[in-house]
Amino acid sequence: MAEIVVDLAAVPPGTMKTVDLDGVEVVIANVGGECFAFGGICPHEGGSLGDGELHGTTVTCPWHGARFDIRTGAVIDGYTDEPVRVYDVAVDGDVVRIRTA
Ligand code: FES
Repeated sequence: MAEIVVDLAAVPPGTMKTVDLDGVEVVIANVGGECFAFGGICPHEGGSLGDGELHGTTVTCPWHGARFDIRTGAVIDGYTDEPVRVYDVAVDGDVVRIRTA
């Protein structure tokens, strides 16, 4: 199991932050105070999802616009059928802990 701890203040509500979790790009998203974490590389052609747009619990890839549900990693629509991985997230006081499941 790998874990990374990030200051909650670094991910204000409505924003995303890309972190390195044991060599893997992972995006933390804060949706109204609830945090989610998912793989940062779009399965289509490798766009950085952390540079995309976050609307509610949907992230849009900045390259070709594939959209994913960040709660489950499922594809909503776009050029891929492959979901992104999601990670366990726990808000612990002033920090967010992200773990491989
Ligand atoms: S790389 Fe993400 S939609 Fe093409």
